[in-house]
Amino acid sequence: MISRSLRATTRKALVLAAAGAMGLAGVVVLSGTASAATTLGASAAEKGRYFGTAVAANHLGESDYANVLNTEFSSVTPENEMKWDALEPNRGSFNFANADRIVSHARGRGMSVRGHTLVWHSQLPGWVGGLDATNLRSAMTNHINQVMAHWRGQIHSWDVVNEAFEENGSRRQSPFQQRLGNGFIEEAFRLARAADANAKLCYNDYNTDGQNAKSNAVYAMVQDFKSRGVPIDCVGFQSHFNAQSPVPSDYRANLARFANLGVDVQITELDIEGSGTAQANNFRSVTETCLNVSRCTGITVWGITDKYSWRPNGTPLLFDSNYGKKAAYTAVLNALNGGETDPPDEPPTGSGCTATVSTNQWQGGFVGTVKVTAGATAVNGWAVALTLPSGAVIVNSWNASRSANSGAIRFGNAAHNGAIAPGQSTEFGYQGTGTGTGVTPVCTAS
Ligand code: XIL
Repeated sequence: MISRSLRATTRKALVLAAAGAMGLAGVVVLSGTASAATTLGASAAEKGRYFGTAVAANHLGESDYANVLNTEFSSVTPENEMKWDALEPNRGSFNFANADRIVSHARGRGMSVRGHTLVWHSQLPGWVGGLDATNLRSAMTNHINQVMAHWRGQIHSWDVVNEAFEENGSRRQSPFQQRLGNGFIEEAFRLARAADANAKLCYNDYNTDGQNAKSNAVYAMVQDFKSRGVPIDCVGFQSHFNAQSPVPSDYRANLARFANLGVDVQITELDIEGSGTAQANNFRSVTETCLNVSRCTGITVWGITDKYSWRPNGTPLLFDSNYGKKAAYTAVLNALNGGETDPPDEPPTGSGCTATVSTNQWQGGFVGTVKVTAGATAVNGWAVALTLPSGAVIVNSWNASRSANSGAIRFGNAAHNGAIAPGQSTEFGYQGTGTGTGVTPVCTAS
């Protein structure tokens, strides 16, 4: 415990230094040692993450808007200004001015920038849809090359392809899909890597936040890309939630299974319709979910104020129309400042492996996510033993084999996650009926 709190102090010192270097406001230094972060960006930085927002260039000149942006956020995503119709309304003629304003505003204040988005069926100028395969391939190549070259070295992550799947897991019939076929996503990612080797390359989509046919299809694609060396670094989960599309109970398990493929995960367009405590609780749970997946590197909300949200009737953001902090804001800030969750920099201790479980329990059912961490030496195969309370029955599990559905269960590594480097982690999960809390997992390395 002593070394852990020393590490926490060291980490805070590093974060303070980093926050200072980034020009981040909102870190209050107490007695020269401890710190209490008071803004979203600074609090997220203490957890090794960014906290971003979508930004519209035409509001940057409004003082309230700019003040909240500059004070609270450490990352920005241009809401519309980097879309194809904004950047290349006519073939071969590029207009970077509006997006440039956002990029220079952000970078001048130490914020990182997410690029959104290179290949998408929507906000696509009509001329693109009219091209034959040969011309479309060369237009896509030129668009990716020109746009990424313009901001080479300045973009933290690019949404290379956005929303390419349907709800049932099939491919969306976009012009890219229709003319270039299934390979268009891979082509786009290969072009993107060549155009800016320093940007993280993400696939981004909505309604992929929980495990379903659509997220399964994206998962299979990412798994295939990783196995064949197609460059992909991250998956973006848009996370637009409302009553019809609530925060899924297996959100964490879903993010974790993607992370276990070896990609970062990012919450890219978060907004949650509602108000008051209910909305605040949902925002808290999303924030905690990201903090509990070590490869969840940041959260972006899709706008600053309800006034300018793309779905203003749902009041889905953290600041009200007068830039007042909502209950949701406080919930997010408190969650970011909450206890030690899953610091990405946990150093290894001892050999073998350790396992911890986090259980999401609801009336009649549960999802358990088990994190397996290698000690100071690499692990090549592991098993986790745990005993479920009586009455609990597992109906599904992922990223591990299992010996039984109830009582004493032994989970073994899957083929893809048996090898864990020193100090690194992998996660597996299970879903069951009954009560699944109060279990103690014991890890054995083979
Ligand atoms: C939205 C913008 O917020 C609106 O201003 C615009 O009119 C339409 O697009 N998925 C995405 C985002 O990837 O680019 C979308 O943004 C919201 C859904």
